[in-house]
Amino acid sequence: MVEGTELFEIIHTTRAMRRLKPDPVPDALIKRILEAGQCAPNGANAQLWRFLIVKDRAIKQAVQVWYQRAFDKVIGPHYRSSAPPPGMDRERYQRQAAAVQYLTEHFHEAPVWIVACLEHGTQPPNRWSGASIYPAVQNMLLAARALGLGATLTTRHLVYEKETEAALGLPPGVHSYAIIPIGYPVGKFGPIRRGPLSTIVYKDRWGQTWEGD
Ligand SMILES: Cc1cc2nc3c(=O)[nH]c(=O)nc-3n(C[C@H](O)[C@H](O)[C@H](O)COP(=O)(O)O)c2cc1C
Repeated sequence: MVEGTELFEIIHTTRAMRRLKPDPVPDALIKRILEAGQCAPNGANAQLWRFLIVKDRAIKQAVQVWYQRAFDKVIGPHYRSSAPPPGMDRERYQRQAAAVQYLTEHFHEAPVWIVACLEHGTQPPNRWSGASIYPAVQNMLLAARALGLGATLTTRHLVYEKETEAALGLPPGVHSYAIIPIGYPVGKFGPIRRGPLSTIVYKDRWGQTWEGD
C-alpha cells in the first residue's frame, strides 16, 4: 500500500532537526501541523491541550537564556561525560552533541515555536498527564517532516520551569510539556539510529528472548 509505505518512510526519517534556516514558515503549514497534533489520542478525549505559537523574538530570546543555562549546567557536562547510546558510535554521538549545542545557541532563531501545553486547572500534573500531550507532539513532528519542515522535541526549558513559563506568559493552571522549534532544515532528513530490537523486547517473561526479529 503506497500510503503505508510513505508513513513508515516518514517515521524512519523523522529525526531531531536542530539546524534550521531563519526563513519564515507559512501559517498554512503550521495549521496543518496543529491539525495533525489534534488527531492524537488523549485521556477521555478531554482535549486539555493548548498550543502556543511563538514567533516573537523577544519572548524566544527570554526563554533561550534559560535553555542555554540548562545546557551549561546539566546537558553539556552530560554529553561530555557519557558513552554513546545504543546504535551510535562515538563520532555520531559527538555530531549529535554538536547539533544539540548549535540548537542551544540558536534556539530563539527558529522562525516558529509550538509550545505544547496542558490546561490542568486546579488539578496538579501527575505521572500520566504527559500521556495526553506527547502523542500530539509526536504527530506534529511527523507532520512537520511530511511537509519538509525540520523540528525537534525539546523539554530542557523545564529545568527552569517557573522562569521559562513566566517568560512564555502562561496563565495559572497551564503547564508546558515541550517546545518544538520549527523551520526549514539546513541538512537532510536522515535515517534514525537505534539499538537492535533484541536488546529491548522480551517474550512473556522479562529477560526471555523474543524470536520475532
Ligand atoms: C523527553 C525528550 C526531551 C528532549 N529534549 C531535547 C532538548 O531539550 N533539546 C534537544 O536538542 N533535543 C531534545 N530531545 C531530542 C532527543 O535528543 C532526540 O530525540 C534523541 O537524541 C534521538 O535523536 P533522533 O530523534 O534524531 O534520532 C528530546 C527528546 C525527548 C524524547
